[in-house]
Amino acid sequence: MRFTVAIDGPAAAGKGTIGRAVADRFGFAHLDTGLLYRAVGARVLRGERAIDAARALTPEDLSFPDTLRTGEVAQAASKVAVIPEVRDALLEFQRAFAHRIGGAVLDGRDIGTVICPRAEVKLFVTASAEVRAKRRLDEFAGRGLEADYDEVLADVRARDARDAERATAPMVAAEDALTLDTSEMTAEAAIAAAIAAVEEKRGTAD
Ligand code: CDP
Repeated sequence: MRFTVAIDGPAAAGKGTIGRAVADRFGFAHLDTGLLYRAVGARVLRGERAIDAARALTPEDLSFPDTLRTGEVAQAASKVAVIPEVRDALLEFQRAFAHRIGGAVLDGRDIGTVICPRAEVKLFVTASAEVRAKRRLDEFAGRGLEADYDEVLADVRARDARDAERATAPMVAAEDALTLDTSEMTAEAAIAAAIAAVEEKRGTAD
């Protein structure tokens, strides 16, 4: 059985939380595609050329995901994500993951538009920039990292602008995506809405 759930949306909107919960519920595999761009960004911060870094990526680059989940790496990721050759180098891996037997959930910016335009379910998860910055701040605090609200908000806004305005695979809701504005939703409510969308589609597919 192949079944793909594409989850896109701006920085720190809760795509990962929803994606992991949907994957757990249905026994699907989950890929946080942002980590791929973050891993390329981390290599660039260590002095590599972005295109070479994207082509040289190995599973070991993703072994310590928390080291990639910093504001500095996020900014580097959104800069390399503008480069078409970097996106090309990461495309096949993502498509193969999406088509794996047993079902897959991928979250990112261009999953429903470019990576899996025929995904069975497409969600665009968003929230106000202020709410997203607060959530990211809480996540950092939970990992024992200190961060400043204004800096996190500035990071979120700068990445949103770069991600939405780039020429290749810009962040945009697919025409057939269900938009979930989670600004005033609990994580549980957002997860329930996502699960309902998958159940509805699976019901008609069975
Ligand atoms: O976790 P958060 O939403 O803050 O970011 P992320 O999903 O880890 O993505 C980091 C950066 O990678 C984004 O700001 C995008 O520039 C880029 N990205 C992308 O261009 N396409 C994707 N499918 C996923 C991430």
